[in-house]
Amino acid sequence: MANSEMNQDILKVLVTEEELQARVQAMGDELYEKFAGKNPLFLSVLKGSFIFMADLVRACQVKSDVEFIAVSSYENATSSSGRVKITRDLQEDITGRHIIVVEDILDSGNTLAFLVNYLKARGAESVTIVTLLDKPARREKAVHADLAGFTIPDEFVVGYGLDFAQRYRNVPYIGVLRPEAYA
Ligand code: XMP
Ligand code: MG
Repeated sequence: MANSEMNQDILKVLVTEEELQARVQAMGDELYEKFAGKNPLFLSVLKGSFIFMADLVRACQVKSDVEFIAVSSYENATSSSGRVKITRDLQEDITGRHIIVVEDILDSGNTLAFLVNYLKARGAESVTIVTLLDKPARREKAVHADLAGFTIPDEFVVGYGLDFAQRYRNVPYIGVLRPEAYA
């Protein structure tokens, strides 16, 4: 494995690289069954899902398009503010499209509750929620993932796209930070 400046900041590994790879392929296979012939639009919710998105679209060899949207509700803290705003909007018309929303983590549900409504209001034919991680302990909105990679306990996680204050996104596994690393 490559040298890493960040391993020392990780308290424990929750999901290994090998587990991520196997699960993402299985998720791609499941989406293939559901969307072959339907030309879905994979919609990555930035920034946290960028690595998952890159792996998932290659794990699902259907004729599809990719699009990106950015929302914010966090502002560098580790708990959700409940307010969601779009910071980078869709660049194309989604009327009549089958949208596969690709999220890093479903936590309070505020982000996805907002997005599902937004995409339907923009004319999506269907909205399917795919999240790498599901943290059901902290749900505030009744949002259910159609496909979730791993259910995790109520701990703040980083890696594989997920950050703390924009850092650790390039850690190749999902881990929990040491408390000292927050300082
Ligand atoms: P909500 O609460 O709206 O959260 O369901 C979705 C967004 O919150 C961020 N989030 C996390 N980011 N580690 C992170 O790096 C976490 O443990 C975590 N929990 C929530 C994330 O951006 C997600 O899209
Ligand atoms: Mg996110």
